[in-house]
Amino acid sequence: MKKDLLDVIYTRRSVRKFTGEKVKKDDLEAMLRAGMSAPSAVNVQPWAFVAVTDRVILDQLCEALPYAKMLDKAGAAIIVCGIPDKDDTYAKKYWVMDCSLASENILLAAHALGYGAIWTASYPDSEKVKSVRSILSIPYNIIPLNVIPIGVPADKDAKPVEKFKEENIHWEKW
Ligand SMILES: Cc1cc2nc3c(=O)[nH]c(=O)nc-3n(C[C@H](O)[C@H](O)[C@H](O)COP(=O)(O)O)c2cc1C
Repeated sequence: MKKDLLDVIYTRRSVRKFTGEKVKKDDLEAMLRAGMSAPSAVNVQPWAFVAVTDRVILDQLCEALPYAKMLDKAGAAIIVCGIPDKDDTYAKKYWVMDCSLASENILLAAHALGYGAIWTASYPDSEKVKSVRSILSIPYNIIPLNVIPIGVPADKDAKPVEKFKEENIHWEKW
């Protein structure tokens, strides 16, 4: 069931418990398309995505990443990777921002399609980057920014958390 955009943004939450059900390939493709729809500095698009549905590989990632244990019941994962040497200036400087925007689009698309998802850390922890790179055969010049486990949420009734804080806003001047 498709949701209104603001409703999707306001109700997205990190989901850490999945049912173990599969994620449809069409839905994964829609999430990847959402990722690639993100803005990027000078439109360099310094990103690449590894989409994983193989249980063996999901388990290897689960084993290697202490803060991504929800992978044990995830139906898929998308690993958002940065390509800092895609050009000599903008990609080097802005790949983290660009790939973070792509990641948020993936999180929102997953939620809009009725799945749960969560950003789990890889970069800048060199040990995590090394593990993820080795498990997924990612070339040395490509940096896995994160691992995004995706699945059907186990708790269908989880309530969105209100994060709006008036004190974070400074109208006109600080
Ligand atoms: C850069 C970054 C790294 C994160 N790493 C992890 C992680 O390794 N494991 C995890 O369970 N959650 C991780 N999270 C998810 C945050 O804990 C979560 O976004 C935060 O608690 C706010 O909750 P919400 O996403 O439901 O609004 C990460 C989020 C970001 C943005």
